[in-house]
Amino acid sequence: MEDLQQTSCSQDSREGNSQACEEPGSCTEPIVSLSGIYKTFRSGAAEVHVLKGIDMRLNTGQLAILKGRSGSGKTTLLNIIGGLDMPSEGHVQVGEHHFHRMGDKQRTRVRKSEIGFIFQAFALHPLLSAWENVELGLRLSGFPSAQWKDRIDECLEQVGMTQRAQHRPYELSGGEQQRVAIAKAIAPRPRLLLADEPTAELDTRMSERIMLMFERLRSEERMTICMTTHDQTMLEVADHVYEMADGRLD
Ligand SMILES: Nc1ncnc2c1ncn2[C@@H]1O[C@H](COP(=O)(O)OP(=O)(O)O)[C@@H](O)[C@H]1O
Ligand SMILES: [Mg+2]
Repeated sequence: MEDLQQTSCSQDSREGNSQACEEPGSCTEPIVSLSGIYKTFRSGAAEVHVLKGIDMRLNTGQLAILKGRSGSGKTTLLNIIGGLDMPSEGHVQVGEHHFHRMGDKQRTRVRKSEIGFIFQAFALHPLLSAWENVELGLRLSGFPSAQWKDRIDECLEQVGMTQRAQHRPYELSGGEQQRVAIAKAIAPRPRLLLADEPTAELDTRMSERIMLMFERLRSEERMTICMTTHDQTMLEVADHVYEMADGRLD
């Protein structure tokens, strides 16, 4: 829980004392703050208590991994962090945005401009090529259009998909589609990247390449990354691993 306690520096900076933050890596700004999160799903008369009091804080430039058995609530928690779903109770803050005080439209705007999603539910557009899918991500985020071409080429190159840029999703394997989805999510340079099992479809070599890319995004671009994974080797690059168990984080 060390990371959760690295707050004194960011409090200093809020008070205008930026001196304390000059040393690289010495200071961290919180970008995600969850407090007292409960989530209960109702199906008919039954209630499923999935999240039971989650407090979590992610600092800028942090790479956090959520692990836990299937059904433990990892996807539910990522959905809540990303404003795709609302908690039954509790507060969610992303950057300066208080999701619990905002309407759907406002949350959608924040999502499009500030958060990148690598989620199964955000599948690629089936009629667009890999290149056009990444372009769509940039268009929706409001990224300056003059820079689209270079940025798309760069991101497809980073995920090793340059040769397949003109292929549509049905012409690509599951792993290749996942790599395009990763390029699409990171292209707009979101402050926060949420990734649900992003390496699930990838072989070991490609998983390592993606994790190195995440590591670089974190260290060089100060992107904050929160991802779920089953893959033990991924845990090495994380600077914090949260374990979901019985609706709580250990
Ligand atoms: N929309 C929903 N309605 C009802 N139950 C749900 C819904 N979404 C998730 N659940 C339940 O919440 C639990 C946690 O699911 P999930 O967050 O997908 O877990 P994980 O991602 O860790 O596998 C599961 O028991 C699942 O069935
Ligand atoms: Mg899941």
